[in-house]
Amino acid sequence: MKTLYEKLMNREEKLSLVGLGYVGMPIAVAFAKKIDVIGFDLNAKKIEMYKSGIDPTREVGDDAVKASKVDFTADEIRLKEAKFHIVAVPTPVNDDHTPDLTPVESASKILGRNLTKGSVVVFESTVYPGVTEDVCVPILEEESGLKCGEDFKIGYSPERINPGDKVHRLETIKKIVSGMDEETLDCVAKVYELVVDAGVHRAESIKVAEAAKVIENSQRDINIAFMNELSIIFNKMGIDTKSVLEAAGTKWNFLKFYPGLVGGHCIGVDPYYLTYKAEMLGYHSQIILSGRRINDDMGKYCAENCVKNLIAADKSVKDAKVAILGFTFKENCPDTRNTKIIDIVNELKEYGITPLIADPQADADEAKHLYGVEFTDINAIKDMDAVILAVAHTEFSDFTIDRMNGFFGDGKKVLLDLKGLLNRKEYEAAGYSYWRL
Ligand SMILES: NC(=O)c1ccc[n+]([C@@H]2O[C@H](COP(=O)([O-])OP(=O)(O)OC[C@H]3O[C@@H](n4cnc5c(N)ncnc54)[C@H](O)[C@@H]3O)[C@@H](O)[C@H]2O)c1
Repeated sequence: MKTLYEKLMNREEKLSLVGLGYVGMPIAVAFAKKIDVIGFDLNAKKIEMYKSGIDPTREVGDDAVKASKVDFTADEIRLKEAKFHIVAVPTPVNDDHTPDLTPVESASKILGRNLTKGSVVVFESTVYPGVTEDVCVPILEEESGLKCGEDFKIGYSPERINPGDKVHRLETIKKIVSGMDEETLDCVAKVYELVVDAGVHRAESIKVAEAAKVIENSQRDINIAFMNELSIIFNKMGIDTKSVLEAAGTKWNFLKFYPGLVGGHCIGVDPYYLTYKAEMLGYHSQIILSGRRINDDMGKYCAENCVKNLIAADKSVKDAKVAILGFTFKENCPDTRNTKIIDIVNELKEYGITPLIADPQADADEAKHLYGVEFTDINAIKDMDAVILAVAHTEFSDFTIDRMNGFFGDGKKVLLDLKGLLNRKEYEAAGYSYWRL
């Protein structure tokens, strides 16, 4: 009897993607080069965009979407046509930082209603250990009337792609795979090997794979928090943190992390999934939550330092003209969800400053919808008292001092180079009040 993998390869069976965002879309497009793929998303508008060859995530690009054979649909019934399902829906947190499993539960319901015997369901969404087996499986069983382990199988394979990163892509990053039993693991591994050139790591269980993902991002968050704490300390000492890190970084085992704002829906969110589950088990996280607190306060800290530098430069704070360059949660990516730049904006407003914001890469509609923020054309920014260079978009990284001068009015120029993109000494020599984390 043919295996599901063989049937997929022969195009006797199809693969489905449930959730076509930053993660789901590149996977769908990659698989569609090898096997038949149904791409399902609840968002009918998004599906229409994909159908007309537009990729709002810019992860695969319009040309690749146009050339792709993914069968895009917002009609859940079409999921019945597929036997191998990959779920890549969001896993945000609520306002109180507890996991919001609504999208994962909703996707499980939809998939459950349309699940057929012999299917394999693989979750990719980042979750705490246990969500796949303890939360998703009961929903799949209830909605489908099928029994997990007998009628359908499950697996988990966390996603490691890094939006905006053209080097570390789905094909080039080793992928962790897991399955509820050996046969499922083998099937999941073989299917992913079709598109992941870097190969797969077969984790010993679904919970191990879930835990591995959530700690990768927690580790990053903690390391950045340590850098942010150092930055606060060195700022008080009048020492430049970047120079300290350059010096310390010459030791072979010094880890290369940098201070900065931690936004987005992964690094700043995933640690809460782990601490939530730990809390349920009676353990109150110390290191992970301390790191979160430090990182969450950095936007406010940057705004306060903008104000302090304005005062030191003899500028009136109320109604000071401040421009923020960059609004997305990270460089070279249109995504503004959970950006920490909004914390700078809100804190500046508390001081009576309404900053202008320019971001040539950001999704302007999303920013307006989420934060009520309107962008200013970067070429219209002039006569500023202070400029906050907040995101390391390529457009900003080759700014010359002449270009920077053009943003300012008379008097001392206050510049906050949050990512340390510019040459500090050059700006200080030119009389700037230069500050960086
Ligand atoms: N973006 C990243 O950098 C990244 C990296 C690694 C892992 N992850 C994880 O991958 C998961 C997906 O993240 P993303 O960035 O792709 O999210 P996203 O918001 O870009 O995309 C998710 C898509 O799922 C759709 N959706 C929501 N509920 C649905 C449902 N019930 N049925 C069908 N579609 C539904 C949404 O319309 C959206 O298009 C999250 O768990 C995230 O933590 C993200």
